[in-house]
Amino acid sequence: MNIENLIAPNIREMHPYVPGTSVVEMAQKLGCAPSDLLKLDANENPYGPPPAALQALAAEKALNYYPDPDQTALRQAIGKHIGMPAEHIVCGAGGDEVLDLIARLFLCPGDAIVDFPPTFGMYANAAQVENVNYISIPRRADFSLDVAAAERIITNYKSQITHGDIVPNPKLLFVANPNNPDGSLISEADLLRLLALPVMVVLDEAYIQFSTQPSRADWVLKHNNLIVVHTLSKLVGLAGMRVGYGVFPLDVAKHLWKLKQVFTPNSAAHVMAIGALSDPDTLAEMGRKIVAERNRFCESLSELGWLEPYHSEASFVLCKVTKDFAAANGRPRGLVVQQALEAQGILIRFFNRDPLRDCVRISIGTPAHMDRVLAALKTL
Ligand SMILES: Cc1ncc(COP(=O)(O)O)c(C=O)c1O
Repeated sequence: MNIENLIAPNIREMHPYVPGTSVVEMAQKLGCAPSDLLKLDANENPYGPPPAALQALAAEKALNYYPDPDQTALRQAIGKHIGMPAEHIVCGAGGDEVLDLIARLFLCPGDAIVDFPPTFGMYANAAQVENVNYISIPRRADFSLDVAAAERIITNYKSQITHGDIVPNPKLLFVANPNNPDGSLISEADLLRLLALPVMVVLDEAYIQFSTQPSRADWVLKHNNLIVVHTLSKLVGLAGMRVGYGVFPLDVAKHLWKLKQVFTPNSAAHVMAIGALSDPDTLAEMGRKIVAERNRFCESLSELGWLEPYHSEASFVLCKVTKDFAAANGRPRGLVVQQALEAQGILIRFFNRDPLRDCVRISIGTPAHMDRVLAALKTL
């Protein structure tokens, strides 16, 4: 018997989501120690969690008990941090788990997820995992959203019938703000237009603290079709601990609790998150440093003359490689740059499909990290 035939066909056929590189594998490949690598491929915080988070973990004595399934202290700490009542908040093992829960909560066969690529790959991934349809509305060349197309597709779907099949019901619309991988923002006017559509809008604010816009988490109080997703993996520096949360309308939160694994995030993540959020000054300072370094790095790239950064409001920069390399041997330009940096122990992301052909995405590290990147780029 071919055991793979028993696997759900949508999972058997799907392409796996490719996360950032494994440091252990890369160190083995390059024959160096993991600590020699500069990991700038997953938008992690180069400064690590605030000391208060590490102290809280060291002081935790109750790791032999399950974590609080109601997440009471954690949700209160988050609520205080973002100025929202704790009952609107549900935490998970990273923003990824929260996105997965949202997909599981809303989607039935025949439904569709809508998103605006290029964007965070988890939204399309959720459509495959849930075996629902996926409607992608491509961004314009400057990565702005085609809101009119979203309006057209979502409001007209009921009247469209092709070959006797009813066009899938768009139910969940995902927007990353700032967007990953380019760092652009959605305007308030466009967001209001999306919220006027008959769908649940999931606003993914993983990088909002690095931007000039405020979080829209409090809009959940006045828009019952809005969910705002946050993570503690980026500014708060807890990517390894896996803590994220959604800010939900109460009528959504009460059903989500039924679906969620009871004990995520784990106890260590609980205490570290509460510790980190008790020190908002350190968090704000890290945010300022990353933004300042992002701006300095982008300015410094002009010296090279062949790596053009897109304007970013996040903790990474998408850059277009504008020159051909003599030794490329047919490799896409982005891959040439990614591999050349990798050979020097620097890990970044590259893309080779339109509209990101020839692009690389570089996470922002400390000034010393970015000096190392600039020096490596100058050798190309
Ligand atoms: C736009 C966006 N949303 C959500 C996430 C998920 O983050 P995590 O699962 O670490 O909380 C990421 C991670 O890179 C992201 O880029």
